[in-house]
Amino acid sequence: MASIPQLLMDEVQPALTTSGGKVTVVGVGQVGMACAFSLVTQHICSELALVDVAADKLRGEMMDLQHGLTFLRNVKIEANTDYSVSAGSRLCIVTAGARQREGESRLSLVQRNVDIFKGIIPNLVKYSPNCILLVVSNPVDILTYVAWKLSGLPKNRVIGSGTNLDSSRFRFHLSQKLNVAPSSCHGWIIGEHGDSSVPVWSGVNVAGVRLRDLNPLVGTPEDPDKYNEMHNDVVNSAYEVIRLKGYTSWAIGTSCAVLSRALLSNLRSIYAVTTAVQGYQDIDKDVFLSLPVVLGENGVTHIIKQTLTQAEIDQLKKSADTLWDVQAGIQF
Ligand SMILES: NC(=O)c1ccc[n+]([C@@H]2O[C@H](COP(=O)([O-])OP(=O)(O)OC[C@H]3O[C@@H](n4cnc5c(N)ncnc54)[C@H](O)[C@@H]3O)[C@@H](O)[C@H]2O)c1
Repeated sequence: MASIPQLLMDEVQPALTTSGGKVTVVGVGQVGMACAFSLVTQHICSELALVDVAADKLRGEMMDLQHGLTFLRNVKIEANTDYSVSAGSRLCIVTAGARQREGESRLSLVQRNVDIFKGIIPNLVKYSPNCILLVVSNPVDILTYVAWKLSGLPKNRVIGSGTNLDSSRFRFHLSQKLNVAPSSCHGWIIGEHGDSSVPVWSGVNVAGVRLRDLNPLVGTPEDPDKYNEMHNDVVNSAYEVIRLKGYTSWAIGTSCAVLSRALLSNLRSIYAVTTAVQGYQDIDKDVFLSLPVVLGENGVTHIIKQTLTQAEIDQLKKSADTLWDVQAGIQF
């Protein structure tokens, strides 16, 4: 493209070719593009690289995002089927893969997506050896373990989006029951992102007032106020949304955006994400599942040891056992 020499004054300093805030999103399906859209519209990254195997869709998605940049803070957006486009990323978000079919559990997806990851993870690390990996593809806990194995990165730099989304769904349901904002309802879902996730009812509170102090049976099967149904709603949320619209996208996109901001801006905020948990809460297996962690520019810096009831610890260990059994069947 011809430039107009009279337009730009003499160069004072050469423009930098890279900046500190580059993010790559692998997979430009429903989830990948919801992540990309959130990143761009919330000004979370300064450069965005998109990678997919579907060349036309990839280019179309890139162009569509670029055409909105006039209305946003500038972001350099590139896309390619070749992983060299991802070079120098601080964060790589992996959303590529097969998605659940209607009624299919996340765990049954596993080997299909492991095979896809074998072609993705080594390429990302080749071009961005110091990146943080944020895995979103399902089953996310197992695939975070797989990504860690395939990447050779330290455990603190390999994270899964985990139960940050489940916790958000939980807090939304609480907010509907209590008629206050979701961000003012505090509660955590930990463990597997999926069917064996664990609601930490012992800590659910609004403004520091624990619901369990007001209703000792809250969240139990005997709960007269039926709060216990909320966890079923959380577990069934994805199945219901998939049944209704075919996929889930917006909530996971915003969840990834919030995690990305914490990682790129070294916020030291706490979220429930998939991480290596051996040695925590009596878990003796080498599995990845969600616990609240501190996120910063080095990935996971600390795991928070929540005060759990024995019943909650037992449920968490059961979640770990479920994942361990699936991990044992993976062919690398
Ligand atoms: N962790 C969560 O909370 C959460 C939430 C929603 C969806 N998901 C998961 O995210 C994944 C993506 O879901 P979706 O709805 O976007 O699916 P989708 O089918 O819309 O998109 C998948 C994309 O991956 C691409 N792809 C496939 N193989 C590839 C490869 N080898 N390299 C690069 N790209 C490849 C496809 O071309 C497609 O564009 C699924 O595994 C889904 O279950 C996770």
